[in-house]
Amino acid sequence: MLTEIPQIGFGTWTQTGGEGEKLVTAALEAGYRHIDTADAYDNETEVGNAVAASGIPRERLWITTKIPASKYGEVRKAAEQSLGRLKVDQVDLLYLHWPSNDMAMEDYLKPLAQAQVEGLARHIGVSNFNKALVDEAAQILGGPERIFMNQIELSPYLANTPIVQHCRSLGIGLTAYSPLARGKIKGDPILKGLGDELGATEGQVALAYLMYKGYVVIPTSSKPERIAENLAAKDLELSDANIDQIDRLDRKERIVDPDFAPEWDAY
Ligand SMILES: NC(=O)c1ccc[n+]([C@@H]2O[C@H](COP(=O)([O-])OP(=O)(O)OC[C@H]3O[C@@H](n4cnc5c(N)ncnc54)[C@H](OP(=O)(O)O)[C@@H]3O)[C@@H](O)[C@H]2O)c1
Repeated sequence: MLTEIPQIGFGTWTQTGGEGEKLVTAALEAGYRHIDTADAYDNETEVGNAVAASGIPRERLWITTKIPASKYGEVRKAAEQSLGRLKVDQVDLLYLHWPSNDMAMEDYLKPLAQAQVEGLARHIGVSNFNKALVDEAAQILGGPERIFMNQIELSPYLANTPIVQHCRSLGIGLTAYSPLARGKIKGDPILKGLGDELGATEGQVALAYLMYKGYVVIPTSSKPERIAENLAAKDLELSDANIDQIDRLDRKERIVDPDFAPEWDAY
């Protein structure tokens, strides 16, 4: 099994059906070894098909999925169903996709921890948890150590400083979702200017920036050439001066903010 999570993974939200399966295949062919899916993305079957057809040994791939809040009353069953669709015995990382607004956290976090003990997941994590929710989760689990990761929105336009600092202080990893601000970084004059200097695209500059910060990034694209382009961001080196410039792009712009979201930590 991979000892570390690959710092760049292929995100799969909105990539469904046969087309979605082809894109996961394109990502694996391009060299991605980390796929981020979720029960709610309605594509675990297609991800599983692409993974099985790739012939890549299971131990060389990192597979992440997420349990939806609607299934928190039956976490174990939901996890088993995800494994079935993905056609694997275990996922590398299993998240709670969103905090619940209806159930006490203990009642869905403890079953998640139990699923890990029973081997359904190598690691467990939370997604879209604010500072108070992270603290509550750590308290339920007897410490923050078992929370491998908090997957949250992070992009050059959203630094999300309070939750980042809080997770860092507790030793909890951070995965940046919507790292390209869902495509909005395209044409950004600063990112494009830096890219022109460095022989890279604005998407690559954005991803390299987030990786420099130590985040795992999971961009998606519906275009095979961009899927490959995004992976190549791992070879792009940015200087401290470049980083300072991109730091200034933070405009606290949150894109994923459904009505069931928790109260985000203001900054
Ligand atoms: N935990 C959560 O609640 C949560 C929430 C949101 C997302 N996620 C995860 O994070 C992944 C990524 O986030 P996301 O899908 O919201 O958005 P994203 O990866 O930030 O952006 C994807 C968009 O950017 C465009 N794009 C891709 N590569 C590009 C490039 N190099 N240059 C310019 N534009 C580019 C794509 O267009 P084309 O298709 O035309 O290339 C697409 O419209 C998701 O797929 C999912 O796995 C998790």
